[in-house]
Amino acid sequence: MREFIKKIINYAASINNRQTSLLKEIVLNNLNNNSIKHDSDIDNEKLFDLLIDLKGTSLVEGINIVNSLVEVLNLDGDVCEFGVAQGKTSKLIAYLIKNTEKKFFLFDSFRGLPKPSKEDELKDDIFNLKNIENYEGKMSHEENKVLRELKIINFKSEKLILNKGFFNDKNIPNFTIPSKVSFAYLDFDFYQPTFDALNMLEKIIVNNGIIIVDDYDFFSTGVKKAVDYWINKNKEIFKIREIKTCLSNFVIIHKVK
Ligand SMILES: C[S@@+](CC[C@H](N)C(=O)[O-])C[C@H]1O[C@@H](n2cnc3c(N)ncnc32)[C@H](O)[C@@H]1O
Repeated sequence: MREFIKKIINYAASINNRQTSLLKEIVLNNLNNNSIKHDSDIDNEKLFDLLIDLKGTSLVEGINIVNSLVEVLNLDGDVCEFGVAQGKTSKLIAYLIKNTEKKFFLFDSFRGLPKPSKEDELKDDIFNLKNIENYEGKMSHEENKVLRELKIINFKSEKLILNKGFFNDKNIPNFTIPSKVSFAYLDFDFYQPTFDALNMLEKIIVNNGIIIVDDYDFFSTGVKKAVDYWINKNKEIFKIREIKTCLSNFVIIHKVK
């Protein structure tokens, strides 16, 4: 009987290993990171682990974050993440820029989501809270969690600028803002901070720079409204591509002029 159970456990483990190998093969084949210098210590095995460790960011979106960052590594300009939560995506981004000159600017209230605006209507009730007002204060994480994640990949503290507080156009003077940005991951979930961050980025993103906005047409209607309104007044300068999967919905915005 014991031998039989052992065989079943070994069989289950072998299936699991095979599935992980297949997944790794798919992920690594979709990374366009051949241009990363061989002497940098960016390692595909580690990248795979960081991608698998993401929370709330799908694998497809993670792969697109990696590929977009690789695309801008040779451009001038720092990197930002707006809406950090526990810092799992921050760790992935930080890993790719840790051996570059780029600084990493993080923005989060560390008190969760703000009050939704009238532009935010509940589209997908992700936490089953019944109405959008009940989401105020949700997704709150301590900043120490983020610092711990960045420590795991030995990200130098002098390259990190952590902006704590609610982001909106009136608060911008209280934050440390980069003078040039080559990549930004915008994940604030609601209309007002998304719109205010896009308006700020418009002035500092370099040519060929990339902005990825998460939760476009997902959870609250606000992000799509903010992006659509903003892109409409900037369509000569920015090009947008929407990516929709069963686990995520996001847009990749390129500055083309
Ligand atoms: C969806 S989570 C971010 C997830 C994170 N980017 C990741 O990939 O793991 C949204 C975050 O945005 C923050 N947030 C939302 N609106 C904000 C605002 N106006 N100012 C500062 N932080 C805000 C919340 O505190 C929360 O941590």
